Amino acid sequence: MDKILVHGGHRLSGSVKISGSKNSALPILAATLLTKEPCTISRVPDLSDIHYMLTILSELGCEVERASGVVQIKAEKIKTEAPYEIVRKMRASVCILGPLLGREHEATVSLPGGCVIGDRPIDLHLRGFEALGAAVRVSGGNVKILAPNLRGAKVSMRSKFGSTVLGTGNVMMAAVLAEGTTVIDGAAEEPEVVDLANFLIAMGAKIEGAGTRKISIEGVKELHGAKHEVIPDRIEAGTFLVAGAISGDEVTVSRVNPAHLSAVTEPLAEAGFDIRLAGNQITIRPGAKRSALKLDTVPYPGFPTDMQAQMCALLAITGGISVITENVFPQRFMHIAELKRMGANIDLQGSTAVIKGVPQLSGAPVMASDLRASAALVLAGLQADGTTEVNRVYHIDRGYESIDEKLNELGAHIERVKA
Ligand code: EPZ
Repeated sequence: MDKILVHGGHRLSGSVKISGSKNSALPILAATLLTKEPCTISRVPDLSDIHYMLTILSELGCEVERASGVVQIKAEKIKTEAPYEIVRKMRASVCILGPLLGREHEATVSLPGGCVIGDRPIDLHLRGFEALGAAVRVSGGNVKILAPNLRGAKVSMRSKFGSTVLGTGNVMMAAVLAEGTTVIDGAAEEPEVVDLANFLIAMGAKIEGAGTRKISIEGVKELHGAKHEVIPDRIEAGTFLVAGAISGDEVTVSRVNPAHLSAVTEPLAEAGFDIRLAGNQITIRPGAKRSALKLDTVPYPGFPTDMQAQMCALLAITGGISVITENVFPQRFMHIAELKRMGANIDLQGSTAVIKGVPQLSGAPVMASDLRASAALVLAGLQADGTTEVNRVYHIDRGYESIDEKLNELGAHIERVKA
């Protein structure tokens, strides 16, 4: 297993091009199952999670061609059972259920296991499919769904932790070819849901209200092929802005949509950083003073759970006492123990981290766990004294396209050691 050596103390400056969004590309690639005609998806990031999704689509019978960031997919004749071996590697593969139901009225996928950020139920997805007339059976770790006639219905996507992003997308993809109208209440408002809706509309779907809590879908007979460019990855952009906050003189992220990042740039400005927006670019510089923060992770448009670990790394070296409460995945704190190995002073009280800033962390061997926790450890190493060795780097490669190369282009000194 590869590892990353982060040699601390190198200041960052310059501009980094942000890739297409992983969390938008995954459901959009799955949505190509809804038509026999070819689809072209551009700005698809080169990530292992994307590779897994393309492998699943190929196994289902799709013709898949990839040339750098452009993917051509043609789902002329497809199977409806996804292979456990690949599905088990990526929870997001659950988003093939909706399009398989919409297109073939049946689907069999292994139930996603839990992961280090906590239990990852799909009860809301399944309840949504049942509301549309599907029969759901769970046996042997697989979920088998049959829906001879998909009918439009009123569906709620609310969980006690907030709306489900992939659940909203899954029900939307099943409903676009159902008879009649579906209304999704408590829909997730994330930009990735809007991007998926825009792709479905380009295929001929009739969808209104994406990006709000209430989405209406009027079923149509069939969908045709379409071309689509994936939106920028707001979490990759946020991660590089926090890298700039931790160890930057002047860092610019380009090819972003600043409107998707206000929940990240506002706290960074509140913490004392100078944030400048210009077109599709955001620049961060140190400000006159630094302030501790109190943050809660909530569904979009609030502060995103996917930025919680990275913000912990910044607040670990910010004077004063900061508090971060994780409301979406209450167990999502694998990074805390590792940051403490680097000298951070953090007290975890349930789903709240109380962080007492220290002047500097010290480099240490640390263990990557979930995707964002791993990125947080690399960011912490940027300012740490000495070298931080981040093991199990495959976690980072799932969601970041060449993060070590991009940081080195900004002035960091990071080595990737092939195991
Ligand atoms: C998406 O996951 C993202 N993944 C996650 O990003 C992100 O953290 C999450 O949304 C929240 O923003 C992709 O888009 C591929 P949820 P998703 O269903 O859709 C509970 C990353 O780092 N819930 O919105 O799977 C659930 O347990 C990844 O890029 C139910 O209770 O998350 C959680 O507490 C990590 N029942 C909350 O809802 C359900 O049926 C939000 O989960 C579904 C979810």
